[in-house]
Amino acid sequence: MSDNPLREGLSHVRVPEPCVLVIFGATGDLTHRKLIPALYHLAARGLMPPYFAVVGVARRPKTTEEFRAEMRKAVESEDEVERALWDRFEQSLFYHVSEFTDTSGYQKLKQLLEKLDREQGTAGNRLYYLATAPDQFEVVAAQLQQAGLNKGGGWQRLVVEKPFGVDLASARELNKKLRRVFAEKDLYRIDHYLGKETVQNIMVFRFANAIFEPLWNEQHIDHVQITVNEILGMEGRGKFYEQVGAMRDMVQNHMMQLLSLTAMEPPVALDPEAIRDEKVKVLRNIRPLSDDDIKTSVVRAQYSAGSLGGEEVPGFLEEPNVSPESGTETFLAMRLRIDNIRWAGVPFYLRHGKRLPRYGTEIAIQFKSGPQVLFNRNQPVEVPPNALVIRIQPDEGIAFRIDTKVPGPEMRINAVKMDFRYGQVYGHESPEAYERLLLDAMAGDPTLFIRGDETEESWLLFDRILKAWEQQKGAPLPQYAAGERGPEAADALMERDGRAWRRI
Ligand code: BG6
Repeated sequence: MSDNPLREGLSHVRVPEPCVLVIFGATGDLTHRKLIPALYHLAARGLMPPYFAVVGVARRPKTTEEFRAEMRKAVESEDEVERALWDRFEQSLFYHVSEFTDTSGYQKLKQLLEKLDREQGTAGNRLYYLATAPDQFEVVAAQLQQAGLNKGGGWQRLVVEKPFGVDLASARELNKKLRRVFAEKDLYRIDHYLGKETVQNIMVFRFANAIFEPLWNEQHIDHVQITVNEILGMEGRGKFYEQVGAMRDMVQNHMMQLLSLTAMEPPVALDPEAIRDEKVKVLRNIRPLSDDDIKTSVVRAQYSAGSLGGEEVPGFLEEPNVSPESGTETFLAMRLRIDNIRWAGVPFYLRHGKRLPRYGTEIAIQFKSGPQVLFNRNQPVEVPPNALVIRIQPDEGIAFRIDTKVPGPEMRINAVKMDFRYGQVYGHESPEAYERLLLDAMAGDPTLFIRGDETEESWLLFDRILKAWEQQKGAPLPQYAAGERGPEAADALMERDGRAWRRI
């Protein structure tokens, strides 16, 4: 029989060592909406360590009982909670009140953690999670060091949420400061896109299916389109978003991960460093954008008032906590090139926006057209090129567009889809990204986390764009009405190359 009551009768695959998870920013949105629900679901699936505790740290005075009740509500608001399971799970939740700058608060935290080690059998292993505002990252890390909480008998790791810096200089500085406290191997920089099943499948799809790899290069691929379209607007995050914009919120991190996984070479092994080495190489090979490129190949815009799903919605400048003069972009499209042998001459087009009519994240590989001579000898017949579309979300799956003859006496060609749908094949919904990522961090597997050099390489590329934008500060941005397709300039970017964005 299992010595962990939460695991009894439940299947399990990989169970990390006993540990305490310490969440800084325990009263925040992320803890409520993602972290505690993910931990509860892991416990329900029997995947939590046999002995574990979760300590929420925040400034707001609260008892452990109150924290437990709040967390239960948070989980219930998303999902059904099984009473007996929750009752056992919550016995592992604790609350510790402290200012992040208060040295004595860390001393008391240390005592609490040692007590938990004795009472809960957590063996001195600690996973610290920075779910705070980014300006607290360095403060908390420094305090952990001062209190000696970054070392001890077991292992100590630090999970850092995004945004990881706001530009190259700040990302470097943050890396430097965090590495004074934790070794790089113990730093787990989160990008929740890597926790998505469909994103993890990119590597499997590319390297397990031997038929695609020979085609995955400039000889056969015309271009790649990576799209992340969202219907949502600010959802109460106006203040945060105004400081980051589409570039820092989505493109520099999530979209560059999608691009790296699509473009990387096969890793020498399926180990964290080999995979991350290959992703970094892609980033290094992206051609830096010149000032001219930035003018011609990067489009940014802001949504204005419009209508979505039959509802009138305000423009970005009218959103709460956004300055009416804000120059922050809510839409971004760009063309990048990867200067290596595999991708020479193949443009990668990226687009992302808020308040667009359809929700959808996908990577579309557009193959080159075959020779047109055969079907076109006597009369013009359109032969659409093949395309492979990896749908990251929603309706997760992969579609392959192939040409077929339309039944009938004349020669007409129609593109149809061969479609794999996760829902149809695997039946159940994939686990939330945070479940996988928390599990990996506890188990000490950094494969799905961002390495320090990865984040710096990505910033190096985008720093140039940010600097160029700095010079245009004050100039109003082009607008697109909420619920419409995005700015015309994004279409023009494609048209100039004789291409078009895919319809989502
Ligand atoms: C977050 C961004 O990182 O990702 C949000 O801050 C964005 O602005 C979100 O909406 C998208 O995540 P997902 O998993 O819903 O695609």
